[in-house]
Amino acid sequence: MKRILSCMQPTNNLHLGNYLGALKNWVHLQDEPDVEECLYGVVDLHAITQPYDKDVLARSTREIAAAYIAGGIDPKRSAIFVQSAIPEHSQLMWLFATMTQMGKLERMTQFKDKAGKNSERAGLGLFSYPVLMAADILVYKATHVPVGDDQKQHLELAREIAGTFNARYGEGFFPLIEPVITGAATRVMSLKDGSQKMSKSAESDNSRINLTDDADVIVKKFRKAKTDSHPVPATLEEMEGRPEARNLLTIYASLADKDMQDVLNEFGGKQFSELKQGLADIAVARLAPITARMSRLLDDVAEIDRVLEQGNEKARVIAASVLAETKHLMGFWK
Ligand code: TRP
Repeated sequence: MKRILSCMQPTNNLHLGNYLGALKNWVHLQDEPDVEECLYGVVDLHAITQPYDKDVLARSTREIAAAYIAGGIDPKRSAIFVQSAIPEHSQLMWLFATMTQMGKLERMTQFKDKAGKNSERAGLGLFSYPVLMAADILVYKATHVPVGDDQKQHLELAREIAGTFNARYGEGFFPLIEPVITGAATRVMSLKDGSQKMSKSAESDNSRINLTDDADVIVKKFRKAKTDSHPVPATLEEMEGRPEARNLLTIYASLADKDMQDVLNEFGGKQFSELKQGLADIAVARLAPITARMSRLLDDVAEIDRVLEQGNEKARVIAASVLAETKHLMGFWK
């Protein structure tokens, strides 16, 4: 049986890429027959590894939780938790830090990107982030972790840490995590540049659809989306080398829950304006209920907190027992 875990950082607002690339899949995983448990975290300890605003951290944490619930994560079946409320994450991280080589962390491409040129000045928190991420996963003995492409290297490291622990202290204790790469079919790219991922940090707000955008804004953003001067491709071959066309078709297929081939049949040879209108319609239809639910929840912070406290409690029971066993295997006094 699978135990699923995944997390998002409470940084900026969520966008369509987070929804289609991650959340939508997380929701489906709840229904799979071979999944025994799903845990979805808001990882606030990760969010402070780079400069952040202390006055919005708690609000952002609740926003992510609201998006999870509004997007379809069912708090009755899945645990929705906050990382900082479960001290076992940090405690396990310390234990893992003693079995992680610095050289491996130095090779992490995300660290290199985020640290920039002056890596001597990067914080220890940013450097050791993948060790905390390994602890996030293994403190629940999660077996399957749905993530985007960019997190594959971190998962590989988490797997190695589990392997090192098992070899030193107890064969088979931690599961060898399997990545579930959810992004592949639904890698959502910028509406302004089909070679860049849709991102919350991109400068132009027109490059992304935020989960808080209203219908008018969604229509406008799709209308302004970059395309090329040919009609919409009608076949997979015609899509080659046309990243903007591919992106719009991918988004449509994902929102409509259709195969790419069906979408190509529907729009192939037509003008992009028709595809954009279709996209705006379906995006509004799919996102409006989520947005509405999210804003209702955000007006009722007590309800979000109730869900989080219940999720924290559920998560903490597992985390506490895994940490206790880990310490026992490592020879601690208690
Ligand atoms: N590093 C992930 C990201 O930036 C977030 C994350 C932290 C995570 N801990 C995790 C994802 C554990 C999956 C499992 O997107």
